Amino acid sequence: MKLPKLLTLCIFLLVYSNGNSEGIKSLNMEGIDIIGSTKEAYQRPNKIVIAHRGASGYLPQHTLEAYTLAYGQGADYIEPDLNMTKDGTLVCVHNIYLESTTDVEEKFPEKKSIDGHYYVKDFTLKEIKALSATIYRNKDGSYRFPDRFNPDYKFLHVPTFEEMIMLVKGLNNSTGRNVGIYAEIKNPAWHKRNGLNIEKATLEILNKYGYFDSNDKVFIQSFDPDPLKILKFELKTKLPLIQLIGSEDTFKPLLTEEGLDEIGTYAAGIGTDKNLILRNPSIVGKAHKRNLLVHPWTFAKETVSNDYNSLEEELYRFYHTYNVDGLFVEQPDIAHGVLHEWILK
Ligand code: G3P
Ligand code: CA
Repeated sequence: MKLPKLLTLCIFLLVYSNGNSEGIKSLNMEGIDIIGSTKEAYQRPNKIVIAHRGASGYLPQHTLEAYTLAYGQGADYIEPDLNMTKDGTLVCVHNIYLESTTDVEEKFPEKKSIDGHYYVKDFTLKEIKALSATIYRNKDGSYRFPDRFNPDYKFLHVPTFEEMIMLVKGLNNSTGRNVGIYAEIKNPAWHKRNGLNIEKATLEILNKYGYFDSNDKVFIQSFDPDPLKILKFELKTKLPLIQLIGSEDTFKPLLTEEGLDEIGTYAAGIGTDKNLILRNPSIVGKAHKRNLLVHPWTFAKETVSNDYNSLEEELYRFYHTYNVDGLFVEQPDIAHGVLHEWILK
């Protein structure tokens, strides 16, 4: 399906799902964007919906189509994961290699590296543009979520970061909303070892499109504190930075009182594995005490924690009981609905 048709479908879905026959317009209240024609119908608490890899629960992740659908489903921010090509272009792909989410093995069998991967850094942008983007495959070739979308659909492609930004800004122009970009720089140390400065390239592109200030609708996220510190202290960006935190074992030093103090010197918030909050809910209060936002990941219909009966229940508990400020979700329409229902309670 070509983008214009899909865009029409997304806008229709949003309007239809909210029972709004007057079209979309934006009301800005208390610092958050409200979609819709009346304040009452679309008011939401001051918490955000981050579309994880786009609306990846419905369409192949990191495609312009998945980003467009996320926009139409009420996401406040859309997440691209960023990697760099051989010729230095930032592209939206989750892994440093291409075989999990594209048909690279069929199209470029000769470019397989010695360890069996097809690395983004070994491909030019032109070569990457020849690939079809597919739903996510595990190492053994099986689909991670076999019930999602259509594994045989071959008409989607890998976007560049610039294309993604232009799409979101264009939709912001069309709708009057102000949806943001929540970019993750992937494996910065690995990129550096391969002669690619991914944090600098990311900042340059964001600056090129007018994102400079602390209140611009952008977050830059990384699991590695070093590039975040470089962005803050050497490249002097004012854009808000998010320190990602995975398992307690690996990230123990960052989870201490001193570690959180340190994060507070360079970041605007933390993005944690949701299980970390389930095991240790006090992390949210500790972060808030330091004025750090808390944005856990990853929520999806297919991966609801055992403690909950539905994604709706899980999202509500995280937003309401655990008091997180936002979350990464693969079905952004469901998170949008949960926040909207909360207002009506
Ligand atoms: O960036 C938040 C979350 O996406 C981190 O995990 O592996 O999905 O990029 P990953
Ligand atoms: Ca990510």
